[in-house]
Amino acid sequence: MDERLVSSEADSHESIIEQSLRPQNLAQYIGQKKVKENLRVFIDAAKMRQETLDHVLLYGPPGLGKTTLASIVANEMGVEMRTTSGPAIERPGDLAAILTALEPGDVLFIDEIHRLNRSIEEVLYPAMEDFCLDIVIGKGPSARSVRLDLPPFTLVGATTRVGLLTAPLRDRFGVLSRLEYYTQEELTDIVSRTAEVFEVDIEEAPALEIARRSRGTPRVANRLLRRVRDFAQVLGDSRITEEIAHDALERLQVDALGLDHIDHKLLIGMIEKFSGGPVGLDTISATIGEEPHTIEDVYEPYLLQIGFLQRTPRGRVVTPAVYEHFRLEAPACD
Ligand code: ADE
Repeated sequence: MDERLVSSEADSHESIIEQSLRPQNLAQYIGQKKVKENLRVFIDAAKMRQETLDHVLLYGPPGLGKTTLASIVANEMGVEMRTTSGPAIERPGDLAAILTALEPGDVLFIDEIHRLNRSIEEVLYPAMEDFCLDIVIGKGPSARSVRLDLPPFTLVGATTRVGLLTAPLRDRFGVLSRLEYYTQEELTDIVSRTAEVFEVDIEEAPALEIARRSRGTPRVANRLLRRVRDFAQVLGDSRITEEIAHDALERLQVDALGLDHIDHKLLIGMIEKFSGGPVGLDTISATIGEEPHTIEDVYEPYLLQIGFLQRTPRGRVVTPAVYEHFRLEAPACD
């Protein structure tokens, strides 16, 4: 089985399923306590003043609920959300078309906002700051600039790479919220909640087992739950028991820490070919055949978080915990 358990971008089928599972308001949203508490205050304050909410930047590793939170912000504010992404906006005119079609108060969600190109960012600055568009009409000496008013709106930007945002763009967000990996308890609650939405029976122990192997990420937890549900349906009586979950997770080749075959390839490759590092990102990429940005955005953050990788000025290094996890003999210190 070669199913990828982590991916940098949700495919469309998956994102449709994700949408149907999505909590609709802050009260239903599990985890990210601080982010939620702050958003609650900012949303309530904006509503009391009958203003639009200030622009919000959500950042953190993929799959932690940035899109979900954006749609919750829109729901809580009682407005519509329009969705686009950095790479989808190719020309300034594309952004102008989106902005001029907004209704007053709408949320504009721009995913992967770090991938907006510079010329488009420049259209965004006056739009965010003064709700207006500066459009240049004509060319050469007869060119002139026209200012167009826009409806007030809330930009919710999402990024896995906040460090790649330019300072002028970052500074125009009034709310910056960092999403963290979820705890096992939170993920267990999310798995139980999703199982309820699916109307499938799951005991506490298998919910915890799925949570443990979900690398702190609800998207992974819900994906594993769907696969485990398949096994329960075909091989059992549809109930997710501990035995079914354990068997399914073994078959899915997700290990006890939630590492999949690509994590394995990465870590074992570093050990076997480079004595555990230091190794540069491009070398790792060439060795395992994954794009450098996929490694950096998707795989590395969790491996860093659990202390399996370290980044040094000379490259990535695996830690003794990796040797222990794979029951390999660690090299002697010199
Ligand atoms: N499904 C995915 N993420 C969730 C979350 N944070 N809370 C509740 N349900 C979810």
